[in-house]
Amino acid sequence: MSYAQRVAARRRAVFLRRARRVAVIALAAATMLVAEVSLISQLVDRGEAAAVVREGAPEAPAALIPVPVIEQVEAADPPEGCAADAALRAKDPAALMKAFGGAAAMHAAVRAGDAPCVSLDDPALPWVVVNKQRPLDPIHYAPAELRVPPSHVTDASLRADVVDSFEQLVAEAANAGAGSLSLFSGYRSYDTQVSTYDSQVGARGQQKADALSARPGFSEHQLGLAADVVACGAAGCGTIYELGGTPQGEWLAQNSWRFGWIIRYEHGHTHATGYEPEPWHLRYIGPELAAVYHEGGYHSLEEFFGLPAAPDYR
Ligand code: DAL
Ligand code: ZN
Repeated sequence: MSYAQRVAARRRAVFLRRARRVAVIALAAATMLVAEVSLISQLVDRGEAAAVVREGAPEAPAALIPVPVIEQVEAADPPEGCAADAALRAKDPAALMKAFGGAAAMHAAVRAGDAPCVSLDDPALPWVVVNKQRPLDPIHYAPAELRVPPSHVTDASLRADVVDSFEQLVAEAANAGAGSLSLFSGYRSYDTQVSTYDSQVGARGQQKADALSARPGFSEHQLGLAADVVACGAAGCGTIYELGGTPQGEWLAQNSWRFGWIIRYEHGHTHATGYEPEPWHLRYIGPELAAVYHEGGYHSLEEFFGLPAAPDYR
């Protein structure tokens, strides 16, 4: 073989070696891509895609090179603490909390961003957060069952399953010598909130109304889990604005959590909640979480769940 032929043969061999290396790398990359896409689609089916995205996996590629359909890939284990997502799907808040090992553990997981199976958006769940940044979803949501509690001054109703805890609270306040309490306003439909908000705007102007009243679709009252209460006595019941400073108002601030209710809009926390203090507005989150809220010294649900402050609408 001549020198020129030997050089040409060596070049051919080098070229073939490089081409083989490139082909192996391309094949490995395509295999990884297929596995990734398959995993993401399984997690989307199970409602866990958010966890994958949060952990820095690439977003699902929009235009993929054609790949062969491969056999089922084993799904990743659900994030720790969320193995209970089946309980959430069954809409059983107590079972979900238990699966986490209790309300405190579930709360810690939510705050750490490690509980994508605990939805703070589902209006049927007691830990849903509604504020100026978080409208109800669906916007015209209404609870399945409402009941007018015995202690009411108008025909105000609450979600049926929280009426007993409300009545226990009222009874305990009376037993403790704090006096009588009654429900003044509970569930308000989207349409009722239209008139409530409009009348506040008519009376005070939009800016002041926004500090006192939620716009339709943004009120906790639409959940059936909010209770505006008034103090009552021999001369009748006061207004909601008169509750603060009464023995009943003082007692509620100290004790409502024991029955699953928190004071949702506290003095000094308008920057987080978007509303002026409302000592009369109780919000049910359930006794277990309310105990965690109380023991942790929290003053707003935004702070409690580590959510962004919601001083205004988007
Ligand atoms: N007053 C409270 C913020 C509401 O309207 O829901
Ligand atoms: Zn209210």
